[in-house]
Amino acid sequence: MSLTVVNEISKVRELVKQYKKEGKTIALVPTMGCLHDGHKSLMEKAHSIADITIISVFVNPIQFCPGEDYDKYPRTLDADKIVAQHAGVDVIFAPSVNEMYPNLQKFSDLTMVVPPYELTDIMCGKSRLGHFDGVETVVSKLFNIVQPDYACFGMKDIQQLFLIKKMVRDLNFPVEIVPCPLVREASGLALSSRNKYLSDSQKTIALTISKSLFAIRDMFKAGIKDTKKLFDTGLTNLDKNVELEYLEFVDKDSFKQVAEIKSTTICAMAARVGNVRLIDNVVLEV
Ligand code: PAJ
Repeated sequence: MSLTVVNEISKVRELVKQYKKEGKTIALVPTMGCLHDGHKSLMEKAHSIADITIISVFVNPIQFCPGEDYDKYPRTLDADKIVAQHAGVDVIFAPSVNEMYPNLQKFSDLTMVVPPYELTDIMCGKSRLGHFDGVETVVSKLFNIVQPDYACFGMKDIQQLFLIKKMVRDLNFPVEIVPCPLVREASGLALSSRNKYLSDSQKTIALTISKSLFAIRDMFKAGIKDTKKLFDTGLTNLDKNVELEYLEFVDKDSFKQVAEIKSTTICAMAARVGNVRLIDNVVLEV
């Protein structure tokens, strides 16, 4: 099937109505574009589980905090179409800001979906105030517009995945969330649209983020369960030019911080290299 690109909500709804009438299942992959192999793995997963794959490409202004990179976030729709086509995508939904938020000047007037404070007062939510309100709101809108049977999310954004799964449970969205593994460069660096901002020397520095997480994982496999000791191992492996924002150990199912690892735990990091904010994580399986 050929790739269709639509910009209007009404057009996507028409297509979805037709697919449903034909008894076809739909998988959605929400993205902000600048597609790389991480996104591609989600699209391929979507293509393998549903009859129709729809991706959204939308740089969502309400999930960026003041001073963040909203304006300079890479927008590469022509290149994205090629990646999507190769991954078996049927429809790209690429709305304008006005299409999604016709009244954004009056931000306080927007109905928002807000995750529980205690789950956002840690990790990315703590430094990016309101970020997950913006994510949950746009993802809810996308679910309502596309009405997918499945929606694929990457484990790269592990807190986002956790919160979306909870939102779907709490608000009874009739969609199955499909978690997809984190994809890395051969070097170990987690793929991210923001890697584009890194110079070669910054990339070398950024590599110590995954190196540090892998060192933690190795120590854990060697039998160390005390997160304080694992934390120190992480720090030792980080380049001194990496500015650490957080390095947290949280239980996979509750997202509560853990001191001693007794059940499967996510070890997640956010750090800056220059002005570029990067996130990564490893799962410590018990
Ligand atoms: P974006 O950063 O474009 O990511 C879209 C999806 O791709 C997310 O589910 C993310 O976890 C996944 N992804 C990104 N890099 C990945 C990697 N290296 N390996 C595996 N998956 C990866 O996340 C967002 O956009 C937005 O917050 C969005 C959900 C679209 C809402 O605006």
